[in-house]
Amino acid sequence: MKTQIFDIQNLDAKGLKLLEIPAALIRKGENVVFPTETVYGLGANALDPEAVKKIFVAKGRPEDNPLIIHVSELSQVDALVAVIPEKAKKLMDAFWPGPLTIIMEKSAVVPEAVTAGLNTVAVRFPSHDIARAFIKLAGCPVAAPSANLSGRPSPTEGKHVLEDLDGRVAAIILSADGELGLESTVIDMTLDPPVVLRPGDVTVAELREVLGEVLVAASITKNTSTDKVKSPGMKYTHYSPKGELVVVKGNPDQIREKITQAVAHYHGKPMTIGILASDETMESYHTGVIISLGSRDDPKEMAKNLFSRLRTFDELGVEKIYAEDIPLNNETLALLNRLYKAAGYTFI
Ligand code: TXA
Ligand code: MG
Repeated sequence: MKTQIFDIQNLDAKGLKLLEIPAALIRKGENVVFPTETVYGLGANALDPEAVKKIFVAKGRPEDNPLIIHVSELSQVDALVAVIPEKAKKLMDAFWPGPLTIIMEKSAVVPEAVTAGLNTVAVRFPSHDIARAFIKLAGCPVAAPSANLSGRPSPTEGKHVLEDLDGRVAAIILSADGELGLESTVIDMTLDPPVVLRPGDVTVAELREVLGEVLVAASITKNTSTDKVKSPGMKYTHYSPKGELVVVKGNPDQIREKITQAVAHYHGKPMTIGILASDETMESYHTGVIISLGSRDDPKEMAKNLFSRLRTFDELGVEKIYAEDIPLNNETLALLNRLYKAAGYTFI
């Protein structure tokens, strides 16, 4: 398939006119990649089951992993859900538009292809101006997973989208990249107390400020693949670079020591070793491909960089990557959730 590429940096008259072409493609049942404030999304008309099925083919995504429906106006939500719980309304007031996905009971208009047969639906109102304008022009709610091939790190830059999906979708809209770099927080509002299924830029502490008690799914930092899975997306390998990724635990001295020893072990062998460190620690290593995730004082910056750094290791042909662990807290939860999953929960 020939993919049409649209580079749209702002919503002046020219930008809006250009945006009409991919919007029309969505209406015709095609797949279009669009930017959001988190990661790029691979969209289809959420109310058209055939269009939605094409998403699973383009990504190579298992069909039992449900999709998020994106809207550009609050008024679109009513039709998609059976009822909006009072607490969900509070979340919408506090965090929409923005990187929060709210799970509610679905209505009859939402096709099973979107929800993978569940009786709930995930809804998100993104804040990225091009995403909002695109969904509005499309004139329909847009189902979209992250625009990566299944299992790969989510795309935070246009070049990642081109790597994974050029030739597999009708169109790609490139724009200013999302400022967050990790996918939205997902919260299940069909349960009381509500449960965070995936952490993101909207933190658990912020959710508790609005809702009071909020639970956090155990699978966020632990491998629970033998437990009954609540969010089907939790059970698949995720975000993985091609090289084998291992997270190194311990206090800062122990981490440095373990990594130095591990790297020394490969000395003289034809194996490219990578180290995922921080601005503060990268100078303590001297061999291997040493990449900083950013400053430890700025977890948001580290979160934003994670997926693109993992892809950089791939580009450099790194076969084994040692990533420093960092302390787990409200601000680092989303980052560590993605890092641990990318490593398949392999720790030393
Ligand atoms: O930031 C984001 O959320 C990005 C951008 C494109 O909006 N989208 C994204 O979609 O990350 P995706 O498909 O990669 O992740 C959606 C997650 C999956 O873990 C999926 O299992 C879960 O949300 N999910 C979707 N619908 C659900 C439902 N009804 N119940 C439980 N989990 C659901
Ligand atoms: Mg994804």
